[in-house]
Parts: sequence; structure tokens; C-alpha cells
Amino acid sequence: MIMEDKWFTLKDGRKALIRNPKEEDIEGMLNYLKVSAGETEFILRYPEECSKYTYEGEKKLFADWEASENDLALVCLVDGEVAGNCQVRINTNLKTRHRGSIGIALMKKYWNLGIGSIFFEEMIAFAKEKPGVTQLELEFIEGNIRARALYEKMGFRIYGVRPNAIKLKDGRLLNEYLMIKEL
Ligand SMILES: CC(C)(COP(=O)(O)OP(=O)(O)OC[C@H]1O[C@@H](n2cnc3c(N)ncnc32)[C@H](O)[C@@H]1OP(=O)(O)O)[C@@H](O)C(=O)NCCC(=O)NCCS
Repeated sequence: MIMEDKWFTLKDGRKALIRNPKEEDIEGMLNYLKVSAGETEFILRYPEECSKYTYEGEKKLFADWEASENDLALVCLVDGEVAGNCQVRINTNLKTRHRGSIGIALMKKYWNLGIGSIFFEEMIAFAKEKPGVTQLELEFIEGNIRARALYEKMGFRIYGVRPNAIKLKDGRLLNEYLMIKEL
């Protein structure tokens, strides 16, 4: 789904742009994917697993997202750098197409500036405009206080827990919490 470019002001006063990812963002996207994976345990990939992301792969993905009525994918650009991205995907099967799922992450230097909140406003507005969509779902990993605070602020509540969903390299097992927002 194509969205109009949207400028807004970060909590530190800088201007930021939210829009669909474009070919010119691919290098920035690949950088963000790798950097963010090394900055937090709360993302589902380690930096070395990012080698599977390629220029051509991202190009196709961006085109697929734009062409799909059921996906909204956004990047946030600050001073021309890809700070992070988010996606909401509405299911397509008849039995589950009332449900959408969300993913979001930012590089650490862009945390707590309000980007996550703006991303959510756009994703929720997109889902509300889709006829028949009645709930949005997401997960966060145990200990991710910042994410939980943001999700609760945006109207999500915990409905379940997936025990030991994550196993870190050091062997630690972490639960994953399942959240829902009824639209
Ligand atoms: C989680 C994440 C997307 C949030 O985005 P963000 O841009 O930092 O979020 P915002 O700045 O819009 O809002 C964060 C909110 O959490 C609050 N918050 C931050 N740290 C907090 C803490 N330790 N305890 C409670 N609330 C906290 C902030 O005050 C803010 O609320 P406010 O706007 O009412 O003041 C971002 O921090 C991130 O990318 N983290 C690493 C990757 C990740 O965890 N992704 C999610 C995987 S489920």
C-alpha cells in the first residue's frame, strides 16, 4: 500500500520523514537491519543472520509491499538516514483476514524520540480503514520495557505468553508476550 510522505518533529526538535521504503533506501535499510540486530536482544535476528538480506531482495520486497493492499511498510528517515521501519500485514485467508500483525524496530540512537508512536498511529489508521479488520496483534520479548510501554500506550493488552520462545546464544531462555488491540 502506498502512503503519502509525512514529515513530523522528533522530541529533540529534528524533522523526520515517514514514507514507504524506496530503492534509494536499500543501503540504509540493510545498515539498519544489521546495526539494530546487534544493539538489543529484543529483535529476532543476530547481526550475522543479516547476510541473507540483499539489495535485490529488498528491492523486490519493497515493490511487493507497495503493490499489496494488505501490507503497509514504512521507513523513518532522519537527516537522510534510515532510522528504522515498521510493517502491518493483514492476513489474506478468509478465516483470518479480520486480523493484522505488526513488526517495528529502530536503531538505538533513535529510540525515545517519538518515532515508534508515529509509526503506530499510521499502522492503526491503515488497519482501521480496511473493511472487516477488527484486531491487531504483536509480540514482545520478556524484558522489553520500552516496547511494552509503547504498545500499552497505543491500546494493546497482553493476552498470552509463549514460554521460552527465545533462546539466546548464552543459553538464556526468554518468554514472549502476545498482545492484541481490538479496533
Ligand atoms: C520499541 C521501539 C520500537 C519503541 O520506539 P520509540 O520510538 O523508542 O518509542 P516512542 O519514543 O514513540 O515511545 C516510547 C514510549 O515508551 C516510554 N518509555 C521509554 N522507556 C521506558 C521505560 N523504561 N519504562 C517505561 N516507559 C518507557 C517513553 O516514555 C515513551 O512514552 P511517551 O511517548 O508516552 O513518553 C524502539 O525503542 C526500538 O526499536 N527498540 C528496539 C527494537 C525493539 O524492541 N523492537 C520491538 C520488538 S517487539
